[in-house]
Amino acid sequence: MASKLQNSHPFGASPAKKGEVKYNEMGNEVVEGYACKPKDFDPNRPIMHYKSLVFLCDDERCAKAQKIDKAVHLRELLKEMGLNKGKNRIKISRTGCFGACRFRGVAHITENTQANGNAYNNSLWLRHTHTYDDAKWKKIFELLVQDKPLKEYLDEKEFIPMKVYG
Ligand code: FES
Repeated sequence: MASKLQNSHPFGASPAKKGEVKYNEMGNEVVEGYACKPKDFDPNRPIMHYKSLVFLCDDERCAKAQKIDKAVHLRELLKEMGLNKGKNRIKISRTGCFGACRFRGVAHITENTQANGNAYNNSLWLRHTHTYDDAKWKKIFELLVQDKPLKEYLDEKEFIPMKVYG
């Protein structure tokens, strides 16, 4: 079965319908049929600041474990929390297979340590995130914004172990 990724972008969630005027989160009018592609394409436009970035595996095995489109759902949750923009923005990005399917659904958290990200929560790998409910995701997002270590909230077994060569 082909990856869902091939079809998930650029159409994404709620693309602009014919005749509809829709704006993306940077305030730019979007191309019909797309959720965020701007009409006034600028190849040098900077990417939008984020504090934390959650890579959600959306490839075959992890996607199968989800009952809903988790990336879209978490983006909605972040909007409700006011964390979809601004200095504490949390970005959700889909990825292909991490080669860690046995831990599905896999999520990787990184922090924007070049700006205001916190090293405690940088490069954390979470397993079985398809079992998380909204309350758990919200708590994780809150802790990311507050720069509190996720390792103090989540059980050690919720992190994917990594073999370190020494
Ligand atoms: S499909 Fe998600 S890690 Fe392989």
